[in-house]
Amino acid sequence: MQVLNTISETKSFLKSQRKLGKSIGFVPTMGALHEGHISLISRAREENDVVVCSIFVNPTQFGNPEDLKMYPRTLEADSQLLEPAGCDVVFAPNADEMYPSLPNLTLDFGNLEHVMEGKFRTGHFNGVGIVVSKLFHIVNPDRAYFGLKDLQQVAVLNRMVKDLSFDIELIPCPIVREKDGLAMSSRNGRLSPEARAIASVISKVLLRAKALILAGKDSKSVIAEITARFNEMPEFKLEYFEISDFENLEPIEKQNETGKTAICIAAYLDNVRLIDNIVF
Ligand code: PAJ
Repeated sequence: MQVLNTISETKSFLKSQRKLGKSIGFVPTMGALHEGHISLISRAREENDVVVCSIFVNPTQFGNPEDLKMYPRTLEADSQLLEPAGCDVVFAPNADEMYPSLPNLTLDFGNLEHVMEGKFRTGHFNGVGIVVSKLFHIVNPDRAYFGLKDLQQVAVLNRMVKDLSFDIELIPCPIVREKDGLAMSSRNGRLSPEARAIASVISKVLLRAKALILAGKDSKSVIAEITARFNEMPEFKLEYFEISDFENLEPIEKQNETGKTAICIAAYLDNVRLIDNIVF
């Protein structure tokens, strides 16, 4: 496995691989890797000749400078997980390499970015769209792998790939969970032992809400029940709980009979912001 820090080395190595007729699978990350990320690498390994993982803590997608500063940077440990998973190339640029100057361009994803995460993280999806576009131009992959953990990110990037005619297949991958159901996240390590012990409430309410919707209940009453439940648990601060169409993320009144239904949640526990969702 090679670790490359510059755009030019990465482009020229991947160009040589493409000339040999090799397919390229790409997994963009911000590092602090766990089994969730590694599941994307494993999937890319199965489906491509060359597997590339980028590790870049992208400043333009953080609203809060403190959050950016606190984000764990663990390249050594990350490399130790990536190599046995079959990663061939780690692209790990620094901020000057990626942004010699800050982009003038801004991306507006319309309604897709005004709901859920977008409502609470202004400018976040602009930053994600810009950095993923740049990474796509650098790596030029055949396939790119994204976790459904960040469901809105998948919806936004699907739209971007369509709108900008990127010739890349986006592959959404299932959420990897801890034994008790908590979605894996680099933030989980910041939970106190007491908070960690109750964190699986988040995935459990998603299952409960799914069962209610499948039983024919309308979204409004399900949201009311779940909200009331969170109001009884002072450890949690619910930010949003939404029942939406999987693709356009518009709220829906009942189970989506023609497409997929997504139930999405964001909540603070112990001052740690956790997100999760379920799609059916
Ligand atoms: P990051 O948060 O590092 O996540 C990298 C990828 O891993 C994303 O596609 C994310 O959805 C996926 N992932 C995280 N936890 C997962 C889990 N428990 N199960 C399955 N997949 C999981 O998402 C980003 O970085 C950035 O926004 C990025 C796309 C790299 C742009 O900067």
